[in-house]
Amino acid sequence: MTKPTASGLDGVNVADTLISHVDGERGRLVIAGSDVEQLAATATFEDAATRVLAAGAGRELPAVTFGPARVAAWELVPRLGDALDLADGMDALRTALGHVASTGDDLADALAALGAAPVFVAAWSRRRAGDAAIAPDPALSHAADYLRMTVGATPSPAAVAALDAYLVTVIDHGMSASTFTARVIASTASDLLSAIVGAVGALKGPLHGGAPGPVLDMLDAIGAPDAARAEVWLRAELAAGRRIMGMGHRIYRVRDPRAAVLEKATQTLEAAIGASAGRLALARAVENAASAILREKRPDRPLCANVEFFTAVLLDAIGLERALFTPTFAVARVAGWLAHVAEHARAGRLIRPASRYVGPLAPAGDSV
Ligand code: COA
Repeated sequence: MTKPTASGLDGVNVADTLISHVDGERGRLVIAGSDVEQLAATATFEDAATRVLAAGAGRELPAVTFGPARVAAWELVPRLGDALDLADGMDALRTALGHVASTGDDLADALAALGAAPVFVAAWSRRRAGDAAIAPDPALSHAADYLRMTVGATPSPAAVAALDAYLVTVIDHGMSASTFTARVIASTASDLLSAIVGAVGALKGPLHGGAPGPVLDMLDAIGAPDAARAEVWLRAELAAGRRIMGMGHRIYRVRDPRAAVLEKATQTLEAAIGASAGRLALARAVENAASAILREKRPDRPLCANVEFFTAVLLDAIGLERALFTPTFAVARVAGWLAHVAEHARAGRLIRPASRYVGPLAPAGDSV
């Protein structure tokens, strides 16, 4: 019998890219020529976005600022229909971005998407809490303004630095499902905003960007950095047929390097604001217990912590509520998606794979 087609495209290269490189065996992530550890320690979101966009464009670009783009997006907020009333932040972002008209000028459309994501997510989060939306301040950095518009107060420099580290760390990651989605849409010569809307839909799922909220739910349910308690909870999850959120990855066979970057950023933030290492200690205990149990369950397949595990801990420490975790991921990854769309437009062709028909066939000659 023929083997079923591998529907996950594991190990299939679908593009040559200058944007990022994921080495799953060694646990290395390179973004536009720099290791993620170095980039997160030295770059702002604006720096990293300029670098990935330049990599996608295949040429140097002047340093970009997104303040004017955020202001332009703010003008659209009263005209988003009921998008910001939707209960889920990713549904709201997807619907709101659908209101941004494509101009056909890719640079203008890219800036529109980059400016719109933080403004729309922040306005959605304020409306959800029953508060008025806050206008962007173009003089602030992207990270500082996003936090200010969301939380409603001037954020501490330590919180801004932590958010910058997060946004840089997740800005791009090889051919993730959402990036592939964006490239498939771009490959039909559709418009750039359609590619971003599609990518937001792909990112929403818990197997991709939707895991950090459930990771925090797990940490809350376990409640204390107690190995025995964690083990009971984790074993019950697996016995119920559920996966442990924040663990496992399609590419990494070792711990996701982004987990370490975000763990360190959390530690730095907690030290700066004088917070107790409560949640971080809990997360480490749960990670250790989960790693051991998953090793026992699948000795043949290393299942280690992925980026979402410490995303939950860091974004919580920054003061963002869990409903904002995946939308905040999108605020960063928009830059990566745009870079891939530009790269595909430059160097790619229509993505149109084949499928193998396994249904019934009328005998030859029976067809009308
Ligand atoms: N908990 C329990 N088992 C897991 C697991 C997890 N987090 N991740 C993978 N596995 C198991 C699967 O059950 C499967 O076992 P089986 O062959 O007995 O059915 C095996 O490992 C392989 O899983 P598969 O889904 O084929 O691997 P993948 O490469 O497609 O999965 C993820 C990658 C990320 C989708 C997967 O690890 C996962 O669902 N993780 C939890 C969600 C998450 O953290 N998402 C964020 C990703 S950054």
